[in-house]
Amino acid sequence: MDGIAPLPGSSRVGPAESSALNATTEMKAHLGEAGSAVMRFSESRHAFSLDLILVPSACRGAGLGTALIHRLLAIADAVGKPVHTTARPIGQSSAEIVDRLVAYYQRFGFVPVEQGFRAVHMKRPAPGGAAAR
Ligand SMILES: CC(C)(COP(=O)(O)OP(=O)(O)OC[C@H]1O[C@@H](n2cnc3c(N)ncnc32)[C@H](O)[C@@H]1OP(=O)(O)O)[C@@H](O)C(=O)NCCC(=O)NCCS
Repeated sequence: MDGIAPLPGSSRVGPAESSALNATTEMKAHLGEAGSAVMRFSESRHAFSLDLILVPSACRGAGLGTALIHRLLAIADAVGKPVHTTARPIGQSSAEIVDRLVAYYQRFGFVPVEQGFRAVHMKRPAPGGAAAR
């Protein structure tokens, strides 16, 4: 975890070693009365999975989601693993909302790999094109 700065007002709960296998980690950015933004991810032997990201509606569009995702990508890149996720809106969903989420993840280097029902499975390859599973 060296070199990865903590988010202001954030806490990290879970296994400390990013090399641990089958580990689930939750990061929270505390936002006072608005609650907290949360990101949950897991790590297996060959890849990370971004399982949940949720920013309170009153705090969206201010870069919090980006900051949290960058933390995960820094951890994944440090150990050379790809990151999988599924663009599946929490709450209200439509083709347009899914498209917006897909475009959002594409900004971070995720590419669509499979279309599901109101969901798109995506993968961000490991840096340097390391083998991804
Ligand atoms: C997706 C989400 C985590 C983004 O967090 P955020 O802090 O608002 O994101 P950032 O400020 O870093 O970036 C803003 C971008 O988020 C994307 N976005 C997706 N859904 C959004 C929403 N409902 N409100 C605001 N931005 C949204 C947009 O691409 C936006 O960029 P744009 O304004 O240029 O279109 C947040 O909107 C959220 O919690 N949504 C509901 C939960 C959800 O569906 N999570 C994804 C599960 S796969």
